[in-house]
Parts: sequence; C-alpha cells; structure tokens
Amino acid sequence: MSSTQSHSKPHREPGVVAIASPSLALVKYWGKSDDEANIPAVPSLAVTLAGLTTRTVVGIVAPGAAHDGADRGATDSVRVDGEVIPPDRNRKFFAAVRSALGSSIPEDARFHAESRNSFPTAAGLASSSSGFAALAAGCFAAVRREAELGTISSVARVGSASAARSVFGGFVTLRSGAEKAEPLFGTDHWPDFRVVVAVLHEGKKDVASRSAMRLTRDTSPFYRAWVDDSHGVFEAGVRALADRDIERLGEIMRLSYLRMFGTMFSADPPVFFWRPESVAVIRECARLRAGGVPVWETMDAGPQVKMITTNGHLAAVKNALAGIGVARVIECRPGAGVTIET
Ligand code: PMV
Repeated sequence: MSSTQSHSKPHREPGVVAIASPSLALVKYWGKSDDEANIPAVPSLAVTLAGLTTRTVVGIVAPGAAHDGADRGATDSVRVDGEVIPPDRNRKFFAAVRSALGSSIPEDARFHAESRNSFPTAAGLASSSSGFAALAAGCFAAVRREAELGTISSVARVGSASAARSVFGGFVTLRSGAEKAEPLFGTDHWPDFRVVVAVLHEGKKDVASRSAMRLTRDTSPFYRAWVDDSHGVFEAGVRALADRDIERLGEIMRLSYLRMFGTMFSADPPVFFWRPESVAVIRECARLRAGGVPVWETMDAGPQVKMITTNGHLAAVKNALAGIGVARVIECRPGAGVTIET
C-alpha cells in the first residue's frame, strides 16, 4: 500500500440504523447440539419485547481504506454502549455475514458498528439477542442487500442463538437443530398479554451464557434429562400460547426456567446467577397467585426476574413489586422484529 493511501481519509458509506428488541424465552433454549455452528439442542418459544431496544448504526469502510492504521478499517469493529468489543468475539459472526453476502461485499471492506441499548447490557436482559439481530440486519442493509428475514435470522444465530428469534416480532420459535427462527403468532395475537421486567441488579454477569451452557452440558448429570424433557415442555407451551391460556403458559414457563436452572445448579462448579432479590420476587409472584393474580416469573442468565401477566393485573403486580423494594420495573408488550430506520 502506498503512503498516500494509508494517510488518505477512508471512504465510508453512510451508516444505516437497525433497531431490534430482546427476545424473552417463555420456554428456554439452553445447550447446543453444535458448538461450532451455534445450533440449539432444545426448542425454545419466545416473545419479542416492545419497550426495550437496541439501536445499531452499521457502516462499511470501503476497499482501499481497509488498512488505514489510524482508522477502524483493519478488522470489523463493534462498540456496544461505547465499549469496544474484542474482535475475536465476533469473528465467526462476521464470517457468517460475509458468507451470506457472497460477492456483494468486496473482500477488504470492513464493517463498523456502534450499538446502544436502552436497558442494561449483558445483565440477563437478553441484550445479545437484540444486539446480534440488529447487527445482522444492519450489515445486510449497509451493503444495500435485500435479505429475507430467515437469512438474517440464520446469520444472527451465529452470534447468539436467541438473536435468531429477535429478528421476528411477536411470538417466535427456534426449534432444536434449527438454523433460523420462525414467527409463530404476530404482535396482535394476545392483546392483553404483558411482560413486567424487574431490574434487580444492573451489573454485568460474571459468566457468559455460552460458557455456562458448555459447563452444564459437560458436567451436569441432569443435562441429558433436560434435553429429553424439553420437547414436551415446548409443545405444551405452544398449545397454551395458541389458546391464550395465561395459567397454563405460566406453569409451563415456570417448569422450563426452573429445569434449566436445575442443570446450572448441578454443574461442577455450579453456575449461580440468582441474587436474594431474585428469590424475593419469585416468592412475591407465588403470594400474588395465591391471592388470585395471574402472574408467573421466569429468569435467564442473570439475576433479573421477568413476569408474564395480563393487562388488567399490571397495577397489582407493579404495586406488589414496589412493596418489596423493587425500584426499577419495565413494562413490555409483544413487539416488532428488527427494522431498518429510513
Ligand atoms: O442466545 P444466548 O447465547 O444469549 O443464550 C440465551 C439463553 C437464555 O437467555 C438463558 C434462554 C433463552 O432462550 O433466551
């Protein structure tokens, strides 16, 4: 490369803006059948949450500028809430993007992405689901390539399997062994359905879900049973959702997250994302149900507790949470899949 080239200002395409919301699993994905390709070993059923958003600006550094040492052109680069993500973490993801794009992107062009979450990152609020969904859609849009949502979902999965679901709005499934998620019901399927997120601790989790999954699979004697059991739980969850039966769906949702945590508690060493406040909310949900309020909780790889209920009972749930000192509550409905801002 000539010195003129290395000092010239790289030519950038203007960035595109992709917006996605996190995917909350009602029936959990936990464990991979193929680590390399990031393929889920169990089926999951989820709702995409309106009210929480990831906004990602994706641009490309055009060929010829890619080796400008003063710029972000040497590798694909991602910043989340201002923090640079080590390139190794996203290498496979960008390889999948390139493989899907084929010749639409010159070999030496590099993506750069700047992502912001409207909610705490890496704290068990599924920021990786909305993050990789927005990033995947943004990469396709940045090269002006029309892509089917299924293709975006499949690429997003390489970054994080739950991101495959976030690409779609409403209620979404990701089957075991599947490369992409599938929409099941739209956002208007259950107008009364609500999710209440109790943000109990905003710090980042100490164990990434990827390594926690590997550890549980490799060391928990319950892992095989979890996988075998997951299909029946999934089918029952889909039926309850089709019937808009909050009680049955709530019970299935509870089975699913507690069985998932059963594999974590029994791993060696154990994986423990819960905090005392998480247990307090779980107990409060049981107390509310005993008093006739339909509310069921679920948790992911972090201390936050998410609850499902119906619109008419939102106030009772929020009051009860305030009563036990939960300061930050986010109320969500089923939301849209990934969109590109125009
Ligand atoms: O997609 P990942 O690697 O962020 O894992 C998600 C795992 C859970 O949130 C615990 C469950 C799920 O289905 O979203």
